[in-house]
Amino acid sequence: MTKIWKKYILYFAQEHVDHRVAEFESLVKLFSLQFRCLTDHILKPFWIVEFPNDEAALKYSSRSVCLRAIFELWSHGHTAPEFHKRLGAYVDTHKSEVAGYFKPDISFKITVESYNKHFSQREKIDKIETMDYLPIEGPVNLKSPLVEWWYIEFWGLDPTAVPPVPDDIMFGRLLAQGQRHLIKELSLKQRKFIGNTSMDAQLSLLMANQAMVRDGDLVFDPFVGTGSLLVSAAKFGAYVLGADIDFMMLHARCRPSRITQKVRDKDESVRSNLKQYGCADRYMDVVVADFSNPLWHRRLCFDSIITDPPYGIREATEKVETKGTAKENTRTPDMAHYPSTSHYSLQHLYTDLLEFASKHLKMEGRLVCWLPFHRDDYSEELLPHHTHLQLVANSEQTLTGNTARRLLTYEKTKEYNNDETELSARLTKIPTPPSCNEFRQRYFNNAIESRQERRMRKAEQREIGRLEAIKRGKVPADARSKKCDLNKARFD
Ligand SMILES: C[S@@+](CC[C@H](N)C(=O)[O-])C[C@H]1O[C@@H](n2cnc3c(N)ncnc32)[C@H](O)[C@@H]1O
Repeated sequence: MTKIWKKYILYFAQEHVDHRVAEFESLVKLFSLQFRCLTDHILKPFWIVEFPNDEAALKYSSRSVCLRAIFELWSHGHTAPEFHKRLGAYVDTHKSEVAGYFKPDISFKITVESYNKHFSQREKIDKIETMDYLPIEGPVNLKSPLVEWWYIEFWGLDPTAVPPVPDDIMFGRLLAQGQRHLIKELSLKQRKFIGNTSMDAQLSLLMANQAMVRDGDLVFDPFVGTGSLLVSAAKFGAYVLGADIDFMMLHARCRPSRITQKVRDKDESVRSNLKQYGCADRYMDVVVADFSNPLWHRRLCFDSIITDPPYGIREATEKVETKGTAKENTRTPDMAHYPSTSHYSLQHLYTDLLEFASKHLKMEGRLVCWLPFHRDDYSEELLPHHTHLQLVANSEQTLTGNTARRLLTYEKTKEYNNDETELSARLTKIPTPPSCNEFRQRYFNNAIESRQERRMRKAEQREIGRLEAIKRGKVPADARSKKCDLNKARFD
């Protein structure tokens, strides 16, 4: 028997676009949904996707943070005549299913959405009136309609090259909104306990979706900080546990990061964050621990590990030191001084993280973590890999002109074995790109370079302006020309 599919329009927010596919793939896997994607251009905010039924579509929208809304597709065309022909045909062929929406006691609303082109209210009403052949009998209700249709025109992605006619015209019945309301609900602006490196609500939710967090899961963040990643996991029903090397941070004794706050409130903590969002029952604990010296029982098993390790930019990448090596500046051997902490290189940190995940994740459990990169250095071969973990998603978030971080999702594919003979075989292979070793150093060097470049560009612009002015017979003021000469001399 051939399968019957239903078509839907997925309307995405044009934010964190690179994470869209990864989130979609994670959620269809989480709910074991069958689908067929009919859109080839994934950067478009509108996708046409087939699911077997509304139930599957609703499951997807019940978790997606990238999704604005999902519509049951009624018509789709590249030209207006094609669109109207298909809409008329849809209403005719689906008479029994759609009749209920047109009844006199069913209030309705039609929203006109145009992407990359602005229309006045009058123009929008004109567009609605082109569909006067729809046999709607109910009253208009703009506030709380029983049925809501959307007429959508897509005018391309480039605001500097808007096409003369829309690329796509779509019409559909609103089925559900995505979960973008959670971004506001969990916003850091109103959160009780935050720090300089707290992860924003949207990315935290995306990470929890990447980890395929389910109700009742056990989730761990080994670099927990203020617990933002635990908040989103708990919001999706997970029991959460965290660790951090920084006692002051975990106990909210560090300096407040809000400019308006002089001292921290007594009740600031990761636990109070969870309480704020009604997830206090999902809080297990947080412990002060150095990740390079794991303290966990070997049989402890997590459903997922979601974490944002330190890159050394806004927080130190440190580990607790042992009495192995004395400080270099020791004057005599008997006056040896041992450092309490030492630098924890990104390379060692990711080696430990992947090994830890391979040991403590359940089979098919996921590790979701960020890795910083210099954009020029990035290549897929530089990503950390491990024999027991498979990289299933990798999406980028730009940080500055030169730097980005990648959200990596690994899935455990092989049971961990303590067998000595296997040890060397499963060793994490993390290459040593400059991006991994010296991220901090290059981050700041680049900042200096680009400041110099910026000054040089501005000096050149001023010089061009000055010459132009002279050409037009205008003599620049003395002080300005002196400054130009000075800048020129500085950069020549
Ligand atoms: C990027 S922050 C994490 C921020 C966190 N996601 C949040 O929302 O607040 C990295 C954290 O790793 C911690 N850290 C640094 N080195 C560590 C180590 N060796 N073991 C455990 N935690 C460490 C830092 O104290 C910092 O809180």
